[in-house]
Amino acid sequence: MRFAVIFSAHWLLIPLWCCAAHCGLIYSLLLPEPPSFVQSLEDTSCMVGSEISMKCVLSGSYPMTFIWIKDGCELREDEHVRMSFEAQSTELHLKNAQLSDTGTYVCEVQNTAGTQRCAAVLTVSGLSHLTSGENTIITFVGGTASLELRPVSETDAGDYLCKATNASGSDFCKSKVTVKGKLTPLCHAG
Ligand SMILES: *[C@@H]1O[C@H](CO)[C@@H](O)[C@H](O)[C@H]1NC(C)=O
Repeated sequence: MRFAVIFSAHWLLIPLWCCAAHCGLIYSLLLPEPPSFVQSLEDTSCMVGSEISMKCVLSGSYPMTFIWIKDGCELREDEHVRMSFEAQSTELHLKNAQLSDTGTYVCEVQNTAGTQRCAAVLTVSGLSHLTSGENTIITFVGGTASLELRPVSETDAGDYLCKATNASGSDFCKSKVTVKGKLTPLCHAG
């Protein structure tokens, strides 16, 4: 779903400007200005459960259409995701951010003169309590605690913390897990 903004305050100025520079007006109608970002998206990080928004401000000729894309997929509004579109800005709001919201967000803007994109990375971090399950195996044998995740996916990347507690107190240790992307085989044409 593309959202179009077909009216801008610029149109109000046209009658005034027209008398002084009607050549300029004809030019701008014949040669629409492609979209450009006046304020780009910025990389953001937040904690699980927080509310965040990402905004970009742009200029260019109208009508303009916007879409938001996360990791290559167009975002749709739901109870978790809201998008707002104004004449010269668009904003994406995420409620109750989850680890799975981590990713690359792209705002794509289009008018008759062209398409522009700007991208930023959102990192959602936080403590979530892991319990044993289908893909998560937690064991504690002979004084050794271990956590096994399989299969591993990119959303498993992050800081892992192991905390041990007994009647005397508690201690923890931490480790950072990086998940490398899949190797995609090189394709040869023909
Ligand atoms: C708690 O663990 C520590 C470290 O292994 C140990 O020295 C201590 O005696 C334990 N306390 C209790 C009450 O078991």
